[in-house]
Amino acid sequence: MQDTTGEGGVTALAAAGLERRYGRRAIGVWSAPGRVNLIGEHTDYNDGFVFPFAIDHRTAVALGDRDDRVVRVSSAFAPEPVSIHLDELVPESVSGWSAYPLGVVWALGRFGADLAHVRGVDLHLESDVPVGAGLSSSAAIESAVALALDEHWGLGFDRPTLAKVGRLAENRVVGAPTGILDQSASLLAQADAGVFIDCRSLDAEVVPLHFAEAGLAILVVDTRVEHAHATGGYAARRASCEAGALALGVSSLRDLGPADLERAQRVLDDETFRRVRHILTENQRVLDTVRALHERGPRAIGGYLDASHVSMRDDFEISVPELDLAVEVAQRSGAVGARMTGGGFGGSAIALIDAARVDKTRSAVLSAFADAGFTTPKIFTVAPSQGARRDR
Ligand code: GLA
Repeated sequence: MQDTTGEGGVTALAAAGLERRYGRRAIGVWSAPGRVNLIGEHTDYNDGFVFPFAIDHRTAVALGDRDDRVVRVSSAFAPEPVSIHLDELVPESVSGWSAYPLGVVWALGRFGADLAHVRGVDLHLESDVPVGAGLSSSAAIESAVALALDEHWGLGFDRPTLAKVGRLAENRVVGAPTGILDQSASLLAQADAGVFIDCRSLDAEVVPLHFAEAGLAILVVDTRVEHAHATGGYAARRASCEAGALALGVSSLRDLGPADLERAQRVLDDETFRRVRHILTENQRVLDTVRALHERGPRAIGGYLDASHVSMRDDFEISVPELDLAVEVAQRSGAVGARMTGGGFGGSAIALIDAARVDKTRSAVLSAFADAGFTTPKIFTVAPSQGARRDR
């Protein structure tokens, strides 16, 4: 597994970057990972179930303390620091990439941190989480910054609360109407395990995955089709789910199960019905996946992954031809199971495959993409890794 804390890793880069930009030593470095969602898509904002794991790609934040009340943030992507006085920090005063870290500072205040009485900080971020691949590079930033400031300012928030802080930053400051999946995965995950989360209570169960022991690997195919959550499809799906819940007389779709589908079909128009059917069946697939893992091990979960993809493709309609092709080729190459992961409309597909088949599957996907005239995808394996932590 990749060690991000070693020389050349993001932790060391963040510490060195802070020193170079601000001429002061880091008093600490924290990091948080991106995520792959194994199953449970668009269920989070319906108060449902998700089952992600953290990947071995992280964002590190180095922190230097200050005597005044100014917060400065910089990163490898944006070397010029963005500077703001804590008294002037409102959602409207930040934009661009700094909305992620500064949004977290603002959101901590909304959750009760006494921002009127803390000192400023200098933050420098470095990341090796692929951006725009649907692997939650933004949640990695939010979770690393939330954990760092919680510790540095002695706020004492627990991790589920820090996940909500990240979500609020994303919703109100970045402006993307996303759920709690990404930040929960980044903050609650553990090595070699998935984290089964009830998005209503935020109760989380760490479930060992045993992929490597079973000779399995997770292959990620980043289609390089850009997805944007702030706009269009994602918000429309969310609105359909809310409309479906309202028409069916429940506060969220979590209150319904597969047994309610018959009534739903009678009450709803065809499109809303299919959106609802995805959520109800997907919640059930998450429960089935977790049970199958406990009882029969990782080779038993493939059918649920495959069925989840079909449901996202046909009922929720969030897939794109590149994702469908990646999934089909992986399945043809003998994958245990494959599906798109994340919000959809682009981003990445995952395949659970025999480690011995990784190279063959990669070549098969590459040539199928070339034949179809699609952009060359990025293909790599990821390992289930530890959630957010202090590195030094
Ligand atoms: C994105 C959002 C999450 C979740 C997924 C779909 O990753 O950020 O909150 O809704 O899409 O499962």
